[in-house]
Amino acid sequence: MDQATWNKVEAYYSERLLPNDPALEKALSNSREAGLPEIAVAPLQARFLQILASAIGAKRILEIGTLGGYSGIHLARALPDSGLLVTLEFDPKHAEVAEQSFIDAGVADKVEIRIGAALDTLPSIEGSFDLAFLDADKENNRAYCEHCLQLVRPGGLIIVDNVVRDGRVVDFSETDASVEGVRTLAEWVKDEPRLEATALQMVGAKDYDGMMITRVLP
Ligand code: SAH
Ligand code: DHB
Ligand code: MG
Repeated sequence: MDQATWNKVEAYYSERLLPNDPALEKALSNSREAGLPEIAVAPLQARFLQILASAIGAKRILEIGTLGGYSGIHLARALPDSGLLVTLEFDPKHAEVAEQSFIDAGVADKVEIRIGAALDTLPSIEGSFDLAFLDADKENNRAYCEHCLQLVRPGGLIIVDNVVRDGRVVDFSETDASVEGVRTLAEWVKDEPRLEATALQMVGAKDYDGMMITRVLP
């Protein structure tokens, strides 16, 4: 099994399971044209987030790491009209692209973008949230998760992107700060009795990566 097979399977399911959605295409092309890095979650993964948020009946969602709004549109679409997505973004240019993408997708009135380093903006965020999606600088994963544990309601979910990184998470000669950040998170979750957690390995358009799914115990 190799990347070519993963890509074929990804295309196979994308063609069958994902609706043709001009707003999502627009979000990606807006981002590309503005020169944003092409690191949004893959379409099938974004759909997974949307389904999880819908399944728990989420009304308030917190995202850390907006980029061009691709994952955010999916999360916002899981919300009822009265719902709210608060999404934190360090880079004003990313936030600007995201704002336009949220408008184009018709979800802007359910989304608040907070610009700044998440560690600075998080203290001003008031709970409670049903779901948090952590997808910013990996170095701060543990701090974000710890903070989100205060903000996410019992029974709610904290989902962390990029916890596999081509398997580098288990290469202990790897001292890259983002990989260390993933391990620091894993060690913290291991000893955190208020969370139950799993990790999903994912392949496809985003190579080999994965998400940690944690649930705040009631
Ligand atoms: N969730 C997005 C992808 C996010 S990429 C999607 O799937 O569509 C990571 C984003 O986190 C980038 O836009 C980056 O600017 C932002 N970021 C990096 N460090 C940050 C920080 N300290 N605080 C807030 N955002 C940060
Ligand atoms: C990368 C991918 C991501 O999904 C992310 O959130 C940050 C970085 C990357 O491929 O470098
Ligand atoms: Mg990511």
